[in-house]
Amino acid sequence: VPSVGLVGWRGMVGSVLMQRMRDEGDFASINPVFFSTSNAGGTAPAIAGGDAGPLEDAFDIDTLAKLPIILTAQGGDYTKRVHTELRSRGWDGLWLDAASTLRMNSDSIIVLDPVNRDVIDKGLANGTRDFIGGNCTVSCMLMGLGGLFRNNLVEWGTAMTYQAASGGGARHMRELLNQFGTLNSEVSTELDDPASAILEIDRKVLAHQREGIDSSQFGVPLAGSLIPWIDSDLGNGQSREEWKAGVETNKILGTAEDTKVIMDGLCVRIGAMRSHSQALTLKLREDLPVAEIESLLANDNEWAKVVPNTKEASMAFLTPVAASGTLDVPVGRIRKLEMGPEYISAFTVGDQLLWGAAEPLRRMLGIAVG
Ligand code: HSE
Repeated sequence: VPSVGLVGWRGMVGSVLMQRMRDEGDFASINPVFFSTSNAGGTAPAIAGGDAGPLEDAFDIDTLAKLPIILTAQGGDYTKRVHTELRSRGWDGLWLDAASTLRMNSDSIIVLDPVNRDVIDKGLANGTRDFIGGNCTVSCMLMGLGGLFRNNLVEWGTAMTYQAASGGGARHMRELLNQFGTLNSEVSTELDDPASAILEIDRKVLAHQREGIDSSQFGVPLAGSLIPWIDSDLGNGQSREEWKAGVETNKILGTAEDTKVIMDGLCVRIGAMRSHSQALTLKLREDLPVAEIESLLANDNEWAKVVPNTKEASMAFLTPVAASGTLDVPVGRIRKLEMGPEYISAFTVGDQLLWGAAEPLRRMLGIAVG
């Protein structure tokens, strides 16, 4: 069995990845070598059936270079520091990475095998060595709407997103919950009294949101509000998260220059925990009946779950609460828009830590070790 270096396995994405690998019995087909950026020599996690030995130093290039495969969820700074040095020494192992650093390099592939197994296989055969997880929003969109994108039926689309706190990180999730908590405490006496005035409650909540609430992670309050900007400002009015929708979608699909799908939209942070949602407007290349669209989506991969476009089903199955912690990617609200027969709406939700981060890398590792 091949030795696989694991870096960043203790963080949020890394922990989800480890749990999925345990659940799927993946450790039976690899010899895990655990690395740490801060605790080299410490005790590696016990994996059923073996002693993983002490933690190796994640900055020790010599040790890393002995491995045929390295999988990291340590983050972009680690990638920047270590990847170039390894490659410049001639290391030609497989680098699997959750960070965005190498994603748009011409010699890397963005992995999402239910959508682009052909691109991955071709890359492996042609000597590609860097396999990078995609942006969470893009991956979740393509899992839900693969049936349209993979059949080249989308001419252009807009993704208006509703992104969860987890996209910012573990501290952001805690901050959101603390904000909900302190907002509630501000007005708990009034809430206990059914006769209290709602506008007075609202005034107190707003006052606390405007001053006093801890927003050190997000920069502004998220609880009871939203943040219509995610990631950096590219200086042209577009956020980096919005830019990713177009470039990563086309890179994942491996579309040729003349059949590129035009994707753009607005990315918005909301107070959900770990599932990203997005409302899509798609201009299709053909006027397809809704039933046919739904069947294309449902049959594309085993995780896309078409939700009937009714109030009851949408409320029950098409929410972050319904999707979180599962590999299902519900997709619904599919209907023809007033703009014309080729224009449809869709809404999809995906767990940002599973299909949005850990699962494509876990599956890529499986493909790599055969
Ligand atoms: N950029 C994403 C977000 C997470 O902030 O929600 C990483 O893909």
